Parts: sequence; structure tokens; C-alpha cells
Amino acid sequence: ADVFTYDPGFTSTASCDSTITFIDGDKGELWYRGYPIEQLADKSNYLEVCYLLLYGELPSAEQMKDFELRVTRHTMVHEQMHNFFRGFRRDAHPMATLVGVVGAMSAFYHDSTDVADPEQREIASIRLIAKLPTIAAMAYKYSIGQPFVYPRNDLDYAANFLHMCFAVPAEPYKVDPALARAMDRIFTLHADHEQNASTSTVRLAGSSGANPFACIAAGIACLWGPAHGGANQACLEMLREIGTVDRIPEYIAKAKDKDDPFRLMGFGHRVYKNFDPRAKVMKESADEVLELLGIHNNPTLQVAKELEKIALEDEYFVSKKLYPNVDFYSGIILEAMGFPTSMFTPIFALSRTVGWISQWKEMIADPQNKIGRPRQLYVGSERRDYQDIAKR
Ligand code: CMC
Repeated sequence: ADVFTYDPGFTSTASCDSTITFIDGDKGELWYRGYPIEQLADKSNYLEVCYLLLYGELPSAEQMKDFELRVTRHTMVHEQMHNFFRGFRRDAHPMATLVGVVGAMSAFYHDSTDVADPEQREIASIRLIAKLPTIAAMAYKYSIGQPFVYPRNDLDYAANFLHMCFAVPAEPYKVDPALARAMDRIFTLHADHEQNASTSTVRLAGSSGANPFACIAAGIACLWGPAHGGANQACLEMLREIGTVDRIPEYIAKAKDKDDPFRLMGFGHRVYKNFDPRAKVMKESADEVLELLGIHNNPTLQVAKELEKIALEDEYFVSKKLYPNVDFYSGIILEAMGFPTSMFTPIFALSRTVGWISQWKEMIADPQNKIGRPRQLYVGSERRDYQDIAKR
């Protein structure tokens, strides 16, 4: 009989080789194409990072200008697509809407099904990066009953997203450049993270040669769960539920109790066993944004900081190497910007789209690529004979 390695959760299986992202979990390091995330978050911007992830190098000024033009040309969605949104209940979770609408893009761009054509792969990548913010903003507008706001290509990527989310036709809306910068940084910090669950989902879906828009929809579905991208929403809701610093010990005890399924959301990571470098940048950003908006003594931030402090001194969290992850502080920034918690994971999804599509492109272009097909250890019944229903 065949012998297989049994590795549930893929804790020790490499599914591919990749040149895109490097993580050293013990040192708390994250690089995109060799560049440390701290430098990119500080000095670069999201669209430049998109170029880097997609093509492997930082662009020249001319290449950057051309890339920006290519992306902005595709920010609008097909008018017909508005009907898709209208088919959803107003109270649908925006992630549900996103899965449906992005999956539907495979019908609008059916030519992209020809994944063997590098030009089709290229245009699909650009379309996804350009349209995801528009689709996420439309999901939000639809959920609050406001009219859709068309993209503005004179604004940069992050400012345009804020505009599409917060502008209303009746009132002038001006994007605060400092807030746009903070938004851009959130996008950058989420842009890629090697073979996490959603990226592996995109690769697995794509390994059969499926349409890229459909593959990205599969990635969005995977990201939604609270153990993955859904943790940012779950974390802020947890911080709100804790409410005051004096209730923290109660929640720490719950998280440690093996008979209680509760976990501290925004804590722990499969790979980072020292700290999550994204969380460090995010924490600084949270302080900056609250200062900028003049929000002092924010109770959620107070609870978050105190919870972090208590957990980092607690034997349980120390011995299991559980540290705040990227989702721990991002929600505080997004809440301060005015986003409801249901939009946190869609923002993660639109940021991660470039990572998914870069990984998908890398896989399709790799001559070694074969369909992903894990094996199993069968632990079911022995062979048995069918019994007629009257005899059971
Ligand atoms: N609170 C309390 N205990 C925890 C937590 C937590 N947040 N995370 C892990 N543990 C415990 C877990 O109970 C287990 O204990 P034991 O060894 O006694 O059974 C041990 O730590 C190892 O946990 P695991 O579930 O085997 O580790 P994993 O690598 O499979 O899971 C994780 C990683 C991120 C899913 C997990 O830490 C978790 O559920 N965290 C909360 C959700 C979260 O914040 N997710 C966001 C991840 S980062 C960004 C993203 O992907 O979106």
C-alpha cells in the first residue's frame, strides 16, 4: 500500500517554492521580495508594493506611472454588476457579497479562463487590483442603503477607497491625506503572507486551471473565517465586549480554560513565535490615527493595550508563544476611521488580493505546476455489502 505523510493543518509541509514572501517566525521578520515590511510600510506605498509583489522588483518612476495608469483605467465595474448587489439582502455580510460578486466577475471576464495566455493573466491581475476596492465600497454602501459612489481616478488608491466608502452625493467630502496614508499602510501590511490558508486555497483552486476570478472568490471565502481574516472583526467585538480594563482577567481566564472554546482574538499565529512585525507597525499607526482624529482615552484602545500587557506577562501565553497578531490593532484604526466591524475583513480581502494573484501567477507560470491533490488516511468502515432498505 502507498505510504503517506500525515500532516493535518500542514504544519510541516511546504506546498510549493516561491520567490514572493519570506517569513522568519522566530525572529519576527517579514519580507516582500527581500524588502522588510517595516521599510515598505514606512517608505513605500501600496501600489508600489503591488508592483513589487507582481513583478519582483521595485518600479522605476516611469514604470510606476505606467502601472498607476493601467490600474486606474480599470477601477470602474461593469454597470450590469450593480444588479448583482441589488440581489443581496441589505443585511448580508459584506464578505458574503464579496464572494458572490468577485465570483461573478468570471462571467464578465470569461476570456480570462484562458490561463495559458500570459496577456490574459496580466489583465486579470490588473482588473482584480483595480476593482476590489470599488466592489468592497459598493458592498458597504449597499448595506447602509446609500447610493454607490463611482471611483475617482484623480485620487490615489487609498484615498479613492475612502472616498467611495464615505462620500455622499449631497455633501462635499474631502479625504484627509493623513488618514489616506494610514489606510494605505493597512493595505501594505496585509498585501501578502506566503502560504496562509486563503493563499493556499487560491493556489489549490488555480492548480486545476480554473478562472482566476473564481479562484480569488475561493480565497475570499477562506479568509472570512475567524481563525483567519475574520479575526479583525472578532477581535474588535471582543474588545468592546470586555469593555473595561477591570474585566480583562475574566477573559484571560476564559482563554486559558481548556473546557471553554473561547480564544483571545488577535492573539497567536501559526508561524510567528516571537512577535508579528505587522502588529508592531499597526500599533504605532493606531496611536497616530487616534491622535490625528483627536480621539483621547479611547476605551477600546485602553482595553487592547492593557490586555496585551497582561497576556504578555501570563505564563500560559508566554509558554505557548502567543503574541498579538496583525488583527489585534487594525480594528481600532478602522473603527476610528468610521468603518463598521463588518467591513474589516473586506478591507483585508482587498489588500490581500495582490498577494493572492501574485501567488497564482507564479504558480501558473511554473512548469512544475500540477494539480494540488492531497492524499488521506482512510479510517472508515471495512468493505461491506449493500442491504436493501427493508432489511436495515
Ligand atoms: N487564545 C488562547 N489560546 C490560544 C490562542 C488564543 N488566541 N491561540 C492558540 N492558543 C493555544 C491553543 O489552545 C493551543 O493550546 P494547546 O497546545 O494546549 O492545545 C496552542 O495555543 C496552539 O494553538 P493551535 O490552535 O494549535 O495553533 P495554530 O497554529 O493551529 O493556530 C491561530 C493559529 C492563529 C489559528 C490561533 O492562534 C488562533 O485561533 N488565534 C485566534 C484567531 C486569530 O487571531 N487569528 C488571526 C491570525 S493572524 C492573521 C490572519 O491570518 O488573519
